[in-house]
Amino acid sequence: MVKVLITGAKGQVGTELVKLAPAGFTVIGLGSDQLNITNQQQVAAAVAEYRPSLIINAAAYTAVDKAESNAAQAFAVNEQGVAWLAEAAQAADIPLFHISTDYVFDGNATIAYQETAAVNPQGVYGVSKLAGEQVLAKTHSKHIILRTSWVFGAEGSNFVKTMLRLGKERDELTVVADQYGCPTSAASIAQVLWQLAKNYQQQGDLPWGIYNFSNSPRGTWHDFAVEIFKQGLALNLISKLPEVKSITTADYPTPAKRPAWSVLDCTKIETLLGYGVPCWKSELVQVLKDQQ
Ligand SMILES: NC(=O)c1ccc[n+]([C@@H]2O[C@H](COP(=O)([O-])OP(=O)(O)OC[C@H]3O[C@@H](n4cnc5c(N)ncnc54)[C@H](OP(=O)(O)O)[C@@H]3O)[C@@H](O)[C@H]2O)c1
Repeated sequence: MVKVLITGAKGQVGTELVKLAPAGFTVIGLGSDQLNITNQQQVAAAVAEYRPSLIINAAAYTAVDKAESNAAQAFAVNEQGVAWLAEAAQAADIPLFHISTDYVFDGNATIAYQETAAVNPQGVYGVSKLAGEQVLAKTHSKHIILRTSWVFGAEGSNFVKTMLRLGKERDELTVVADQYGCPTSAASIAQVLWQLAKNYQQQGDLPWGIYNFSNSPRGTWHDFAVEIFKQGLALNLISKLPEVKSITTADYPTPAKRPAWSVLDCTKIETLLGYGVPCWKSELVQVLKDQQ
């Protein structure tokens, strides 16, 4: 059995990682109450106690707007916490799989971002996540950084849950229609990470580095909302279709700037794993069924 330590195990992706662990893998899934990654002693003690063969870091400070006024905590988790994990993994000579974000880019592109595209995060969250990528790459060569975007899952709070709640309360709502990205199910992220873990187990090695992974096709938050309501109605999660009016980013000011273009080119991971990224509309069906 391959023992895998999962941090942030109660978050959107962490929950799916625990749920979807393949045969042959034993999972030690620790929530923030069991392992606080900002605490070096706790990280070292967990690795010493469980002796994992692999660590998957699903812990992060993900409150994008709050990060603007709480930079210390964002960096503590997204940079220092990753540094402690990277040091522990390096000392134990085991790989560290880590999750990062489209927010490392400035969103000014018009073609999908490749892994090698220039980074230029626009807010505290993005800067802290980029710092985490960099400290991991500097500390430990056996790493995978999976950059993803617009995550939704059955657990935790996300855009899908917010839309369903608003769809029950309102006849009409406004959603931003000038930001482009790819919604990505937490389950599909977990599946990719497990496939990488299986490849590592079989081959004893991996082509380490940064990989993009999202679902397809690209759309706007408005497109996403319309699809949530269409599927939500079909599954009786809402009783009527609300009118979804388009607004611009300028009409919906937020403390943290959002990238206008978040589309990730996933060719590298598709080539490595030998399959195409899933469609978010199909992934959405599964998540909505879990809400029934
Ligand atoms: N959500 C998105 O749209 C999105 C987009 C792109 C990339 N990502 C990345 O994807 C990854 C997973 O995100 P997610 O959506 O699953 O986030 P999430 O649901 O917010 O889960 C993150 C988990 O990390 C835990 N955590 C926070 N501080 C911690 C600490 N000091 N020690 C240990 N655990 C801690 C949280 O626990 P508490 O709740 O107890 O604090 C939470 O359970 C993150 O790296 C994120 O940056 C997310």
